[in-house]
Amino acid sequence: MRVLVCGGAGYIGSNMTAMLAAEGFEPVVFDNLSRGHKSAVKHAELVKGNLSDYDLLIETCKKYKIEAVMHFAAFIEVGESVQQPLKYFDNNVSSTCILLSAMQAAGVEKFVFSSSAAVYGNPTRIPITEDSPKEPINPYGQTKLEVERICHFQSQATKFRYASLRYFNAAGAGLKSMLGEDHRPESHLIPLVIQAAMGKRGEIKIYGTDYATPDGTCIRDYIHIEDLCRAHLLALKKLDEKPELIYNLGNGKGYSVREVVETVKEVSGKDFKVAEIERRPGDPPILIADATKAKNELGWQRQYPQLEKIVESAWMWHNKFPNGYQD
Ligand code: UFG
Repeated sequence: MRVLVCGGAGYIGSNMTAMLAAEGFEPVVFDNLSRGHKSAVKHAELVKGNLSDYDLLIETCKKYKIEAVMHFAAFIEVGESVQQPLKYFDNNVSSTCILLSAMQAAGVEKFVFSSSAAVYGNPTRIPITEDSPKEPINPYGQTKLEVERICHFQSQATKFRYASLRYFNAAGAGLKSMLGEDHRPESHLIPLVIQAAMGKRGEIKIYGTDYATPDGTCIRDYIHIEDLCRAHLLALKKLDEKPELIYNLGNGKGYSVREVVETVKEVSGKDFKVAEIERRPGDPPILIADATKAKNELGWQRQYPQLEKIVESAWMWHNKFPNGYQD
């Protein structure tokens, strides 16, 4: 199957592209390289373009005889979305409408969408099931929810079939792909702690130690990038049976910020300075997935549920590529 991977030069998209190629699919990457890295596209042809380019999208779908689209091309910084909401609605929602229109015009029916735990806002119950209330607390989460709803209506009206995958905290590096996490600027916890362990930053700041959690720091459900990508393949296959799919993707186990810091210290054997500062606005105290639905319906099995394994893979990648991607 020929799959267009929008955002295939980014962290998750590049790992997905590698897995698609390894599993016998024919991926084609569509990316404007505004956030992604050219050198992360090792397993597919790269079409450089914007999602707002309707004509190029149709041309690409036709040229490569695309049969499904996986969509990872979005802005992901919660703080930035609060400061610049229009930028987020334009890039994450309006551009996705153009992509969906181009798919319709080109006769492409299958769509796998990167959604987020951010659609749940401050959850009332932990672990979070898919039917929990969807009340995003920032524009980023709202953009993901908007796209899910657009997909729902599009699937009701046309032959469009979609899987919306709500990621918890994607982490680690692809062990087979050797593709890792290199956001610029970096805001994600694991790569930042690793940079502190490598001596590339003076300290790691813990944002808030007064949360109602056992050690006072936020708890997140980290999911290894390969396990995450594997679920996309299963969801794509499942679209043959059902036109609308929604799954949480996480391990169902949470780790606090302090536990992540300690795990990086253990895995790296390095000590570094840890500063405790005020809370980062918009952080829910605890996000843990109930991913039973994906497990039962897709037969999704996680290979690397332990935080230690996730951190080990990231540590290996950052040491192999201390300056990240070159372009
Ligand atoms: N944190 C720190 N110090 C840092 C960086 C992060 O203490 O230097 C803390 C955060 O406050 C949070 C936890 O570490 O409690 C995890 O933070 P990340 O930024 O790594 O991840 P988030 O849980 O904030 O974000 C993830 C995804 C986002 C997505 C969000 C939605 O990475 O793309 O989930 O819930 F928007």
